[in-house]
Amino acid sequence: MGDRLRLTVLGAGHLGITHAACMAAAGFEVLCVDVDADRVAGLSAGRAPIFEPGLEELLRAGIDSGRLGFTTSYAEVAEFGDVHFVCVGTPQVRDGHGADLSQVEACVDALAPGLTRPCLVVGKSTVPAGTAAAVAERVARLAPAGEAAEVCWNPEFLREGHGVADTLRPDRIVAGVGSARAEELLREVYAAQIEAGAEFFVTDLATAELAKVAANAFLATKISFINAVAEVCDAAGADVTVLAAILGADPRIGRAFLRPGLGFGGGCLPKDVRAFQARAAELGAGDALAILREVDAINLGRRTAMVNLACEVAGGSVAGKRLCVLGAAFKPGSDDVRDSPALDVAQILHGLGAEVTVHDPQAIDNARRACPELSYATTIAAAAADADLVLLLTDWPEYAAISPREFAGLTAARHIIDGRYQLNPATWRAAGWHYRACGIPDPAPSTQLT
Ligand code: UDX
Repeated sequence: MGDRLRLTVLGAGHLGITHAACMAAAGFEVLCVDVDADRVAGLSAGRAPIFEPGLEELLRAGIDSGRLGFTTSYAEVAEFGDVHFVCVGTPQVRDGHGADLSQVEACVDALAPGLTRPCLVVGKSTVPAGTAAAVAERVARLAPAGEAAEVCWNPEFLREGHGVADTLRPDRIVAGVGSARAEELLREVYAAQIEAGAEFFVTDLATAELAKVAANAFLATKISFINAVAEVCDAAGADVTVLAAILGADPRIGRAFLRPGLGFGGGCLPKDVRAFQARAAELGAGDALAILREVDAINLGRRTAMVNLACEVAGGSVAGKRLCVLGAAFKPGSDDVRDSPALDVAQILHGLGAEVTVHDPQAIDNARRACPELSYATTIAAAAADADLVLLLTDWPEYAAISPREFAGLTAARHIIDGRYQLNPATWRAAGWHYRACGIPDPAPSTQLT
């Protein structure tokens, strides 16, 4: 291998583009491949197809420096790279809960026949335990380099909206390796991150694979726990936001991922929780993860509870009511609407006959593509105009900054449901609003839309 390792990234999705741009910023030459020619053309011109703060700047800097390139040719990346990062998607299968590994398999099948010299294939995609061993077997069978083309697993923990920072300064790096050489290469690739303090864990392949799904399942469990407690608060007349703050003040519990609300969504947590259970069942350990069935059910139950609350506030039915939905993205700081709780609720309410107008600071284009039947507004004021009921469903900071007095001048009625606990109930009630949120006592239970 030459002086400086040459890296390739397979798959120009959220993970792949971010990883490629960050590795180029760290000084490596990086070539990224994707089968989508339009995407590759856009990326080559410096256009990021996803919203990720700071990414487009890094992308352009990488291209301008000559260190970052994009291609549709697997033969080219196989020839170019010393270390190949597999960053393709592993969505949920259509007919079950397991992970669909067809993109990983297709990518390995396209790459391996071009691997003629010693190299390392590094899986970053989230996969069920056992996948890395199967990939290693596939590469050994298809690569002319044979065992000199080694496979390891290095799961990625980046969060959407924080992808650049999480890649440049991760809190931990997991190296699931089968040899000292693979560990050495990963240490070289991540030298800057290790120097900056990232903890480096060397494990076997299965532990590395499980580290990712177990981390996401734990985060999901924390969220569903506090959301289940919100339902008990409702029944007991207690306040879940205060309760969450009290629990979080215990350092053994911690504040992170204890925000109650409409629950988790996105391209990772929901499908990882399901795939983890599905794989455990295949391995004969399904009962051990029975808790995750509840975690998923509680999470989906939040959406139903929100729809029911909207119907209740609307006097029994939302049919014919004008609803303003604030938020479409699955979380703030993202334009991703995959399995978005907000968009899901908006769609159900539309299905129940409501006239739904959705606002989101970033995700309107993606939301419109996913749900063309809904109406969209580019400003909060336009979405709220003449609304009978407002639902705050994604916790964008701009919604927390809305003035209840000014807002009252826009809507037809002062009814608001806060699905993310972003608003101060006392302030909104003082301004004449009927404020509702699951898990916060309602001092005016008889107030309904007429
Ligand atoms: C997640 C993991 O955090 C990341 O490590 C992994 O690599 C990919 O999956 P991401 O999907 O980007 O990242 O979103 P995250 O910030 O984890 O939020 C997931 C969902 O949980 C969002 O819908 C968010 O709104 C929700 N959430 C989060 C809560 O409802 N309450 C919380 O307290 C925290």
